[in-house]
Amino acid sequence: MIKMAVFASGQGSNLQALIDATTRGELPATIELVVSDRRGAYCLTRASEAGILTLAFSAKDYEDKAQYEGGIASKLAELDVEYLILAGYMRLIGPTLLERYPGRIVNIHPSLLPRFPGKDGIGQALEAGVIETGVTVHYVDAGMDTGPIIAQERILVAPGEDRASLEKRIHAVEHSLYPKVLREIFRQSREEQHGKACTN
Ligand code: GAR
Repeated sequence: MIKMAVFASGQGSNLQALIDATTRGELPATIELVVSDRRGAYCLTRASEAGILTLAFSAKDYEDKAQYEGGIASKLAELDVEYLILAGYMRLIGPTLLERYPGRIVNIHPSLLPRFPGKDGIGQALEAGVIETGVTVHYVDAGMDTGPIIAQERILVAPGEDRASLEKRIHAVEHSLYPKVLREIFRQSREEQHGKACTN
């Protein structure tokens, strides 16, 4: 089983999809910790209801990113967390966590990156009047939704489609795509570890 921590800032519907996938045995992983930068966020309620440990913080209580990420890193090390899974976490990841988890931080974004990065990828796509948008899963680097792309799924925008409808369809794609992609990443990671163990 891969040990992961999920980072979220809001509703946590993607967190819920990951909780459900692990519970059903579709994702061979455990969620050791849910980290949130918003103390009242609903994602924390979902985590608690599932019996998952939570760590909530407010960035303004710290001098800088290195300070609060240092605290998060200590907790992750204590729990032996192997992968950081961003699910609606609306902050850039800094060097403290990037250096500790090279190639082991994954994010989901509601657009076909590199188009419409950052906040409100869905609103940006509607504003631009595109006929096609989608969902991207990618590795995280220091930029805003810029790391290497792992998987994308396309969604056609219906003529005159409103935000509520598009958001619902994008979320549905996210909830099935994210567990599937993570399952494959974890499978490869375990195979590599096994390969290394056999050649040693
Ligand atoms: C999701 O649509 C996710 O792709 C997006 O935030 C939403 C969180 O929803 N992430 C980003 O925009 C990252 N730049 P949720 O809290 O219901 O999972």
